[in-house]
Amino acid sequence: MQVPPADRRRHAPATQRNREPILAVFRDILPADGTVLEIGSGTGEHVAFFAPLFPSLVWQPSDPDPGLRDSIAAWADASGAGNIRPPLEIDTRTDDWGIDRADAILCANVIHITPWAVCEGLLRGAGRILTPGGLLSLYGPFKRDGRHTAPSNEQFDMSLRSQDPSWGVRDLTDVTGEAAANGLVRDSVIEMPSNNLIVVFKRPSGDAG
Ligand SMILES: C[S@@+](CC[C@H](N)C(=O)[O-])C[C@H]1O[C@@H](n2cnc3c(N)ncnc32)[C@H](O)[C@@H]1O
Repeated sequence: MQVPPADRRRHAPATQRNREPILAVFRDILPADGTVLEIGSGTGEHVAFFAPLFPSLVWQPSDPDPGLRDSIAAWADASGAGNIRPPLEIDTRTDDWGIDRADAILCANVIHITPWAVCEGLLRGAGRILTPGGLLSLYGPFKRDGRHTAPSNEQFDMSLRSQDPSWGVRDLTDVTGEAAANGLVRDSVIEMPSNNLIVVFKRPSGDAG
């Protein structure tokens, strides 16, 4: 028996809570046209929500997990949006992402739930494929100057590290340093609900690539 596509859709309740505040920022920062690559798309609920609202952009989701790529494809189908490409298998630690240009890269709630090498790979890849003037947006909790921004983030950090010592809330200074090493300049830091941030990095527009 064939499983109806809708049954492959998985749910991450946090996406329902954070998508509107994230949308408000995306309306300010995303380019008018071009390709938006999402890294670690998870269930695909974010891309299925955002893509129809930005019809002049091409949305390219990705995830290393095959079950999640099924979920992303199912959410994309159900959205009816014609501007979502089939999900790519991207593990940021590899240097072949199967895409060689993007005008924006979005990544939500990935770099603290993965080893630091995943963040390094993300910034290396962004430095490699972003078009001049292109942006990388990171959403999630961050430490600032070595300190947590809220007790709840500190507890979350401890719980992450107890699950896997290579995980943990990253310090904005470390991420910014790694971005700079890959030719990316920090453009803005936007405070979001629940003690999260959106951090935007840009590839300078004079950068010939
Ligand atoms: C907590 S989920 C976040 C999903 C989604 N962005 C969201 O906000 O709901 C973390 C995601 O990172 C993905 N991920 C794990 N390791 C990765 C890697 N090496 N490269 C890219 N993505 C990775 C996981 O498969 C998962 O989809």
